[in-house]
Amino acid sequence: MENIVNNTMKSGIKRIGVLTSGGDAPGMNAAVRAVVRTAASLDIQCVGIRRGWHGLINADFTMLTRESVSHILTQGGTMLYTARSAEFMQPEGRQKAVATCRMLGIDAIVAIGGDGTFKGALELSRDGVPVVGIPATIDNDVDCTNYTIGFDTACNTAVDCIDRLRDTMRSHERCSVVEVMGRNAGYLALYVGLAAGATSVLVPEHKYDFQKDVIERIQESGLAGNSHFMLVVAEGAGSAVDIGRRIEEAIGIEPRVTVLGHIQRGGSPSARDRETATRMGYSAVMALAEGRFNRVIATQEGQIVELPIEEAMTMKKHLQMKRYHIMETMQLGSLKNPMRGSGM
Ligand code: F6P
Repeated sequence: MENIVNNTMKSGIKRIGVLTSGGDAPGMNAAVRAVVRTAASLDIQCVGIRRGWHGLINADFTMLTRESVSHILTQGGTMLYTARSAEFMQPEGRQKAVATCRMLGIDAIVAIGGDGTFKGALELSRDGVPVVGIPATIDNDVDCTNYTIGFDTACNTAVDCIDRLRDTMRSHERCSVVEVMGRNAGYLALYVGLAAGATSVLVPEHKYDFQKDVIERIQESGLAGNSHFMLVVAEGAGSAVDIGRRIEEAIGIEPRVTVLGHIQRGGSPSARDRETATRMGYSAVMALAEGRFNRVIATQEGQIVELPIEEAMTMKKHLQMKRYHIMETMQLGSLKNPMRGSGM
């Protein structure tokens, strides 16, 4: 600890601003708590910036202490509130934000959020304010990291909802079309689809053929002995309402459509999200305290790593199409397997 405190002196960081921005995600509070408590252990003060980048522009802040972040570990949402700010992406908006940092004596910012938050953090770092980003979004669509805080909780919420839908779909021998969030990415839909045993999953990363990927999947599933069907549609792949209507037009069954919507963003964070958020919040403050500025905290192969933000923002990750193949295999394996019926 003594070395760390010495390094803190070297880095010159005495006061950190922490904010949450973009769509809220379960576990953001756990990350705020970890930032504040790690900072407190190093005698670094924490200023909570309310309403994301918008709050930094308008000097909307609250001082945070060890005590003020008590009891938030288990809470969904974000105690700091959140917003999306177009103004911050303009140089004039950021000038005001830089002035707020000077006025409040903020030496560095920890920004918790998704891709948009990271873009803002990159620009702020170029304007001379040291930053560290912590990835948090239910979409898991931040390219530099395998995992974003909130994804696990959102998956569990969606799977719980689909399990409930399945009970009634099975009883009525119906077809269900469920739309899940994810913005332009299919991580949430594919993961949920695998975990919930979906008949088919439509994701934006895989250009789907309605006849082959929807109608034939329902028919094949029927041939395999099923009388209820569960289609999961990522919001970025299309509208569940449209898909439901097209199914009815094509084969005459009347699907029930459910758009899970913002329910996926709420709820107490899972153990995985609390644990990851705590480790990421700790790592973010340690990076600043030890003089490693303009970083993002990420996970790679299960480990927490730090990456320079400039490099991180050029990285690309891809939906693992193997997962898509596995999902298809779970539904069609018995029909395609030549050993079918052989007892093997
Ligand atoms: O990025 C998180 C997310 O929930 C996306 O999945 C969704 O597309 C979007 O935010 C919804 O945004 P809003 O809360 O502005 O409706």
